[in-house]
Amino acid sequence: MAAGLGTRMKSNLAKVLHKLDGRPLINHVSETALLLEPRKIYVVLGHQAEDVKAAVLHEIDAGLAGFALQKEQLGTGDAVNAAREFLEMQDSTLLVLSGDVPMITAETLTSLITMHGEYRGRGAACTVLTVRLKDPSGYGRVVRDENGSFDRIVEQKDTNDEQKEIDEINSGIYCFDTKKLYAALSQVKNDNAQGEYYLTDVPRILREQGDDVAIYQSANPHEVEGVNDRRQLADMDEAIRRRTVERLMIESGVTIIDPRSAYISARSTVGRDTVIHPNVTVEGGSVIGEGCIIRSGTRIKESNIGNNVEIRDNCLIRDSVIGDECTVGPMAHLRGHAVMVDESKVGNFVELKKTRLGRGSKASHLSYLGDATIGENTNIGAGTITCNYDGKNKHETHIGDNVKIGSDTMLVAPVKVGHGAATGAGSVVTKDVEAGKLVVGAPARAIKTVE
Ligand code: UD1
Ligand code: CA
Repeated sequence: MAAGLGTRMKSNLAKVLHKLDGRPLINHVSETALLLEPRKIYVVLGHQAEDVKAAVLHEIDAGLAGFALQKEQLGTGDAVNAAREFLEMQDSTLLVLSGDVPMITAETLTSLITMHGEYRGRGAACTVLTVRLKDPSGYGRVVRDENGSFDRIVEQKDTNDEQKEIDEINSGIYCFDTKKLYAALSQVKNDNAQGEYYLTDVPRILREQGDDVAIYQSANPHEVEGVNDRRQLADMDEAIRRRTVERLMIESGVTIIDPRSAYISARSTVGRDTVIHPNVTVEGGSVIGEGCIIRSGTRIKESNIGNNVEIRDNCLIRDSVIGDECTVGPMAHLRGHAVMVDESKVGNFVELKKTRLGRGSKASHLSYLGDATIGENTNIGAGTITCNYDGKNKHETHIGDNVKIGSDTMLVAPVKVGHGAATGAGSVVTKDVEAGKLVVGAPARAIKTVE
């Protein structure tokens, strides 16, 4: 169920698109669902349907995903009803998950499914996943009968004083016999405090008609926490971060100077003896090798970093690859699939965009290198710019091995500089430079009227 706007988020963005650990909430749920090897995953869409669909399809094979549109958000019962046409004739078990309960694990769900299938030797019509909470307020309460069996679920807003004291809550996650679910859903009414069609009425209806409703009480309450407001989202984010940082320190042997200010996504990996200084952010599925030093203020996103790399203060590294023994920064920017081959160096205020810097080559100060390939052991002097854009199109610059580009050289692309060539300080290079040649000069002459 992922159709709601999430009023309590006070947001223009649909709740399930808000990010936890850098990924939309819905992706955490769909990823876990995938681990269960289901026949199919149906997502109930509503608010910002196209964006939610795109988020799901970003990580799940289109053949495995189905989408149902809930035009108006009339409650969780109505949400499940939106998928009726796909499901009601199916002989199957339906696991219902909430798009805003992202921490649920495949292990817990497997236990739920097992209990559902084995209940009283023949399987239940419905099994409700519950937990006991110190503070159950806000959640639907699970009322048990005198035998301790399931009686009903009462939503917070419909509880009486006695029911408010119940500490066992409905996780919003259930297994159903699909056909029985849809038959019972037809009987759900909206005569409650919120005027909604509650999915939580279905287990009561099933029980009243004599079907078995089981309860699987999980011992991991944190897994079923829902995200309803931004404080809960921030708390959950912090909990994930803490666990990631602990895992990196204990299991991977990473030194994290200030664990509270390390923002490392759970999907990233960091190698042994790497040192992470305060205020470093590592996003997406980044990989950082062994023995690296990552200094303060650096953000690394979807990038691959080799071993024994030093990334000095305040660098931004996006979608890029850095080999072994490289040095980067301070204040460097790599983006657009920049590649630094082993032992290369990028220094202060250098930007690399879609550029490959060869083994042992250096660009130490104040440069923009875009759409370029640079060979081995080449030195790019301070202030060098690849003029890759003519106002309409981007052009490439190719520089060979053992080249010395003088300070403040402008390389007007498309242009090639051969192996072992050199340029003088302040050169404006508009024509290809032959291997082994030195070029100098800056012919800024009037040539025509600007078009
Ligand atoms: C729900 C349960 C409550 C449980 C809690 C656990 C109901 C009536 N209540 O309450 O018993 O303790 O989850 O977290 O089910 N959604 C739709 N369409 C709708 C309404 C909701 O797709 O018309 C989706 C939402 O986007 C969300 C999920 O269903 O992902 C849960 O809805 P929400 O409104 O957050 O339910 P709760 O009030 O938290
Ligand atoms: Ca909720």
